[in-house]
Amino acid sequence: MKTVSTLADLRAETQVLRQGGTIALVPTMGALHEGHLALVRAARAACDHVAVSIFVNPTQFGPNEDLERYPRQLAEDSAMLEAEGAALLWAPDLAEMYPPGFSAKVSVSGVSEDFCGASRPGHFDGVATVVLKLFNQVQPDMAFFGEKDFQQLAVIRTMARDLDLVRPHADAIIGVPIVREADGLALSSRNRYLSPAQREAAAVLPLAMQEAIARIEDGQNVTRTLAALEDEILGGGFDSIDYAELADACTLQRLDELGVAPARLLVAARIGGTRLIDNMAVVKG
Ligand code: PAF
Repeated sequence: MKTVSTLADLRAETQVLRQGGTIALVPTMGALHEGHLALVRAARAACDHVAVSIFVNPTQFGPNEDLERYPRQLAEDSAMLEAEGAALLWAPDLAEMYPPGFSAKVSVSGVSEDFCGASRPGHFDGVATVVLKLFNQVQPDMAFFGEKDFQQLAVIRTMARDLDLVRPHADAIIGVPIVREADGLALSSRNRYLSPAQREAAAVLPLAMQEAIARIEDGQNVTRTLAALEDEILGGGFDSIDYAELADACTLQRLDELGVAPARLLVAARIGGTRLIDNMAVVKG
């Protein structure tokens, strides 16, 4: 695996790879875990070469968020990617990604506005901007993102569709299912912030979501089920809830009843100083 940290080197390496076949991009902020490795495996199965980017993107963090303490472990991440057969690691520094005078911003309205967009103002502008840059830098045939950031995936697909992206085309932006711990907690780089007691309590989140989904799929009242879900999450040790909502899986419009269109239960909740998100499919029975 080659590691590059300048745009000039990236262009030279991607040119070589492109001559030998297709390129998949897996954008990450590092601190890799099995969830990221599942993206790399899916990317390897679909394309000839896999490029992975590692860049902790400051523009998607709010002023009081965890940018400073976000885990950075490039050597460890690089060894994991090498073992997974990635061809290229793109690890630019801040000045390479955002040179002095940088002033562009990509904003996707609609799907970005509710949920994490409401509780993290500016977050999705930062994500869309850096992801469009990564797409233009690497020009991959396909790109792979975790479904754990379900709204992020919708924002990126909308951006690709609305801006007529060619590399990758909107249809070549692939969502990979969430990887979970044995007790159901979705893998996240932020899980490492949890104390042992918080980590144990955090398992209430996926468990309570599964129970709520069973009730909704069974035809029970959505509003009352979501209220009970919030009570259960808070009763299980979480300190606050940013949102716990049923939404249309494509438009991310809130739903107060389950229709025929695919739906998703989306939750963001805080335990101690850590904000965890999760989502699950809800299917009409
Ligand atoms: O999902 C992430 O890790 C980040 O939001 C991404 C897509 C790499 C953009 O910085």
